[in-house]
Amino acid sequence: PRCIWLSRHGESLYNLEQKIGGDSLLSKRGEKYSSKLPAIVKESAGLKEKDIVVWTSTLKRTQQTAQYLTNKKLQWRALDELDAGICDGMTYEEIEEKYPDDFQARDENKYEFRYRGGESYRDVALRLEPVIMELERQENILIITHQAVLRCIYAYYMNIPQEQSPWVSIPLHTLIKIEPRAYKTKVTTIKANI
Ligand code: F6P
Repeated sequence: PRCIWLSRHGESLYNLEQKIGGDSLLSKRGEKYSSKLPAIVKESAGLKEKDIVVWTSTLKRTQQTAQYLTNKKLQWRALDELDAGICDGMTYEEIEEKYPDDFQARDENKYEFRYRGGESYRDVALRLEPVIMELERQENILIITHQAVLRCIYAYYMNIPQEQSPWVSIPLHTLIKIEPRAYKTKVTTIKANI
């Protein structure tokens, strides 16, 4: 691809409550980010803006974040957030209290830890392979997805070992532009002022 833009969905109601997973809608701030996103993309892409295809997950918060973009859009199930299984909808505090062994196991090996009934980072990296293969064949793509998924995609393009992906920082309300180059991939970020 010529250019890949990455963004987390805007702040969700679950983000506000510090709950993981789920399929909640955006908060007021998150909604504000979605309304500013077209201008931010335009600022970053210039005339190429119209040639960008937008990929989202199947979850409401990514589609809501893309709602004001008039570009062609495609939904991928493979871009859905890491499945937290039995912990879906809980806060980290609740997990620590209810499943202390799981909480500790995750702390000890975050990349390999698979939530019961859910996924690990390794699982996510694996299911992203077809997405990345398709991405390689495309020109300009904006991917609006979730924290864990973006960590894996970012690590892939930045040549960060996948095992380190669980600690990559992908802030909210920030558009990341990646320009893959033969020798050095170029990254620029635009933080939304909201
Ligand atoms: O809190 C937002 C979120 O996207 C959760 O849905 C997800 O479980 C989590 O981040 C992934 O981050 P971490 O792997 O650091 O728990």
